[in-house]
Amino acid sequence: MGRKVAAVRNNYEMFGLLRTVKDGLLYWLDQRHDDFDRKYGVRTAQWMEVRDAQIEDSAARASAVRYVPTPEPVLRHILSSLLRHRAAETYSFVDLGCGQGRTLLIASQFAFARVVGVEISPLHAQAARDNVRRYLAHPRARRAQRSQIDVCCVNAAEFEFPDSNLLVYLYRPFVGPVFSAVAERLSQFCSETGRDVLVAYSCPQEEHMFAERSDFAKVDEFRVILSEYSWSLWRCTRAGAGRELDRSDLGGVAS
Ligand SMILES: C[S@@+](CC[C@H](N)C(=O)[O-])C[C@H]1O[C@@H](n2cnc3c(N)ncnc32)[C@H](O)[C@@H]1O
Repeated sequence: MGRKVAAVRNNYEMFGLLRTVKDGLLYWLDQRHDDFDRKYGVRTAQWMEVRDAQIEDSAARASAVRYVPTPEPVLRHILSSLLRHRAAETYSFVDLGCGQGRTLLIASQFAFARVVGVEISPLHAQAARDNVRRYLAHPRARRAQRSQIDVCCVNAAEFEFPDSNLLVYLYRPFVGPVFSAVAERLSQFCSETGRDVLVAYSCPQEEHMFAERSDFAKVDEFRVILSEYSWSLWRCTRAGAGRELDRSDLGGVAS
């Protein structure tokens, strides 16, 4: 509670009264309209700062972003846009920085070959596993569930991707060196396996790092009023395969 009061006081000091009322209202609406947890009997809604997440690796901690869950409609929009043009069972869904696992629960309703969450914080990884258990015990979820879910507690920059086509999901999980290490790892995976590697990136604040590389190409983007919920779609191309991509072949989303 003390932290919340301090955050409001700091907001006021930084932005003044009007903006603080507006920010407070938006925050309250965001939380109030988030009925995912109630619907499925899970606990994914509580935001958590990086300093509270027990991330031991100090370099990874410095690049990490606090836990905030993706709103359900955002991920459903992304998945249904992408799966209009491709079969879920030919891809594994991998959320790098899965937090408390909300995206995994939603993705498991789409019949992916596998659904894997990768999370560096042991606290969040455990919460994600608990949520999978709670979710599977919920009758509404059991009816909808179509793929197996795994949670790995590891730095995304060190994760071994499953050998299948990948739909990698990022909701601004990390920045700087970790982001660039993940881009490099995906590129290597793509070159070594020849698998299709798509990256759906929500709130794509580090996408310039993909853009600067010759082995990633932006397929499409979908902008909404709040940049927080805008997303872009990238494809990793094999090194040297060139950047000329045919949007219709890739099944881009309308923006
Ligand atoms: C903004 S939250 C996104 C949560 C989840 N993907 C979602 O959309 O609901 C970012 C998450 O990335 C995790 N994270 C940060 N750095 C990481 C790293 N190097 N490897 C794995 N996870 C990381 C954070 O602990 C946090 O849970």
